[in-house]
Amino acid sequence: MREWTREERYRVLKDPHEIWDLYLKTKESKYRQIFHNQPVTGLLNDPNGFVRFDNKWHLFYQWCPWGAVHGLKYWYHIVSKDLIYWDNLGVCLLPDEAYGYDNKGAYSGSAYPIDDKMYLYYTGNNRDENYVRHPYTCLARLGKDGWPEKYPLPIFGEHPDYTEHQRDPKIIAMPEHDCYYIVLGAQTKEKKGCILIYKSEDLLHGWTFAGQLNVPGFEDFGTMWECPSIEHIGGHDILMFCPQNLKLPGRGESMHHNGYIMGQMDWESLTFHPSGEFHVLDFGFDSYAAACANNIEEKDKAILIAWMGLPEATYPTDEEDWSGCLTLPRELTVRGRRLIQRPLPELKKLRDEQVDIIKYDAGCIALPGAVEIEILLGGKDCRLSLLANEAGEGGMVISYNDTTKEICVDRSGMKRRFNENQGEARTRKLDGLSRLKIYIDSSSVEIFVNDGDAVFTSRVFPTEEERYMKLEAPEAFVSLWTLKPAVKEHFVI
Ligand code: FRU
Repeated sequence: MREWTREERYRVLKDPHEIWDLYLKTKESKYRQIFHNQPVTGLLNDPNGFVRFDNKWHLFYQWCPWGAVHGLKYWYHIVSKDLIYWDNLGVCLLPDEAYGYDNKGAYSGSAYPIDDKMYLYYTGNNRDENYVRHPYTCLARLGKDGWPEKYPLPIFGEHPDYTEHQRDPKIIAMPEHDCYYIVLGAQTKEKKGCILIYKSEDLLHGWTFAGQLNVPGFEDFGTMWECPSIEHIGGHDILMFCPQNLKLPGRGESMHHNGYIMGQMDWESLTFHPSGEFHVLDFGFDSYAAACANNIEEKDKAILIAWMGLPEATYPTDEEDWSGCLTLPRELTVRGRRLIQRPLPELKKLRDEQVDIIKYDAGCIALPGAVEIEILLGGKDCRLSLLANEAGEGGMVISYNDTTKEICVDRSGMKRRFNENQGEARTRKLDGLSRLKIYIDSSSVEIFVNDGDAVFTSRVFPTEEERYMKLEAPEAFVSLWTLKPAVKEHFVI
């Protein structure tokens, strides 16, 4: 694997020409996605500033132009009318030596619109001359012309009672309290993950520290909580975050997770009262830093997009100098004590040819490069091999055992294996299995089980031979649709 010096990773992009050749090379990769957002060059990680504004959906992502490396981070801006077809608008927030507060990166954050302006809250990752990190919570204002204006001073700096790990502001409007809150991921001096809360009556000024969020029962749950947010869906409060350096049962050596706790938020006492345990948002291998859109009209749902990747993981495209993509947008609703995650209904727009609807007979089917598969099952044991070879061997295997009531997704049969130490098989208990909805792109598989009851999101890097599907099930109805391309590879910087 390529070793990067600090100078290389933190080099400032001065002229788009510097990455033109890299762009041409990246475009040629056979693992470029067809309907998932991905970086023009280099590395993509967290989705940022996801918001509905001016009748469009705006989304930004953490971007490092130079290669598959977590170096200097920019906010790269994309926009969509329907959350399905996206346009590249190019770099929005760039780290700035002169401004200083974000000299080593415009890190993750969120957005909120007022009138004809959008306000972007982000972490300025400042490093001083001794390379000590100082996080600032910075603000930029974006007009309809898309031009960002950074406010001269951060809205607040680092809190002295916590370590330098304080980042990822999520702005929350609370009209019923006449105020706004910012929840910020942090680490106590005892190296425990936590959330800090700031409050203001005004989006721009007067931000004060309200306190540390109490989450009874979760005082010792990982060493840092990244990308926190508190969502309110269908009358329930949901605390979402990414606890780091924590092992969870069934997740291999994986140390970084993205999950949620349902409960009730008391903004007076700054206490989130959990009504249940911590659930992972996604049972697959590659999903992190999920963000819910701000300013959506519906009260009973949220729209979520995540980074289809993980911190400290490596991917086969690292050798091609690019890495990362975003998940499909999902609709989140509450069912009982859990979140349900469904692909957005608008995704049907991507359907092109309906390849087949059959009463399944256990043969092998050649898969198109971009496909949606829907399978109705009778709840008996079954085994589905995706991206298998022509004989139906290998690939990613989804199996369901009706005696143990467990579904298992196993990618150890794929020829190109990676991040094996995170575990190559993931399981989840179900009440039964009636339906699978699967989206396969050039290098990813997203599996929605039982109408959103569980999701498994994974990157996969199939070889030329790995493009067949084989289903072994006593009774099943299968529908396949080839999908149209949705993302444009335009070189906009
Ligand atoms: C999560 C994260 C954030 C940070 C950003 C930097 O993946 O580490 O905490 O703001 O990525 O790119």
